[in-house]
Amino acid sequence: MDRRQLGASDIWVSPLGLGTWAMGATVETWGHVDDRESIAAIHQAIDSGINLIDTAPIYGLGHSEEVVGKAIQGRRDDLVIATKCGLLFPTEKGKEPARCLSKDSVIRECEQSLRRLGTDVIDLYQCHWPDPDTPIRETFEAFSLLRKQGKIRAVGVSNFGCERISAATEFGPIHSLQPPFSMLHPRTAEDLIPYCKEHNIAVLPYGPLAKGLLTGKFGPESTFEDIRARDPEFVGNRYQRNLMIVDSLAEIATAYEKTVTQLVLNWTMNFPGVTAPLVGAKRPSQVEEHVGAIGWNISSTDMTKIDTILGGSQGDA
Ligand SMILES: NC(=O)c1ccc[n+]([C@@H]2O[C@H](COP(=O)([O-])OP(=O)(O)OC[C@H]3O[C@@H](n4cnc5c(N)ncnc54)[C@H](OP(=O)(O)O)[C@@H]3O)[C@@H](O)[C@H]2O)c1
Repeated sequence: MDRRQLGASDIWVSPLGLGTWAMGATVETWGHVDDRESIAAIHQAIDSGINLIDTAPIYGLGHSEEVVGKAIQGRRDDLVIATKCGLLFPTEKGKEPARCLSKDSVIRECEQSLRRLGTDVIDLYQCHWPDPDTPIRETFEAFSLLRKQGKIRAVGVSNFGCERISAATEFGPIHSLQPPFSMLHPRTAEDLIPYCKEHNIAVLPYGPLAKGLLTGKFGPESTFEDIRARDPEFVGNRYQRNLMIVDSLAEIATAYEKTVTQLVLNWTMNFPGVTAPLVGAKRPSQVEEHVGAIGWNISSTDMTKIDTILGGSQGDA
């Protein structure tokens, strides 16, 4: 599998990364999840040549990182482990996590993540969300210290806009951005992706399958009880419109003997300026399907057809 450079760092990643949010989640968030299947999915990804694994402390309040830690034991060397900081565990059930990117907190979180991941170094350490109450200079003091200590290799941000990225780069390098981006949420392509391309910042889009909606496995009668029940893409007319989009994409995919999931991931990973989409999975069979998205090209005629199909969804980010 080929490798793409992570911005100006010396790190090279596969054209798809494995996202592990669902692997740490509760039933209310992502439905049934089984640690053994999660670990098998991570092994499937590694065995297939995927080297980028994304996690975060907040995914299952440390559980996702622990699952990743178990899965990578004995296989750590060639992997790019990405985790995050800046969302504190809620003090009460049901409360939103507080944002905190203060120097002390970032350093403390890093130590905890290293322990849960069972590793000496985090390859990519990312601010999960901006913290408007902490000067970004302070956060970057922590990153600079952690890099000097060899505890992190590269620095990323997630859910930052162009202005915030620009302000942050005054205090240290930013190697990657993790924004939402998918066929159903293309707005990132208007400003953030071109900005990152111009400034040599890697783009690792999250949610490329729109929480599974773009896999084609749902139909008009599907009902949702997990996180999808609270997502407007899964409700009412918007949901029906999304199903029509998926049907049209499936026709194109069939001509390549590919699934709609594979067409969608291929489109996302080859979008100009994208480095590696982070795609979630809960079991090895899903990863196996993802890997079939790599190593072929969508023709320019079909790219035009896809643009037309997505025409109605522009600007929904
Ligand atoms: N930085 C941030 O704020 C942020 C936010 C969101 C996500 N992320 C990162 O991005 C990653 C990916 O995003 P995501 O997990 O939200 O969404 P996603 O990749 O669009 O969707 C993943 C979900 O779709 C379903 N799925 C995946 N492959 C499938 C297949 N081949 N066939 C059928 N169903 C399949 C699985 O759920 P079911 O089996 O339950 O259907 C899976 O958990 C996360 O894991 C996380 O690492 C970051």
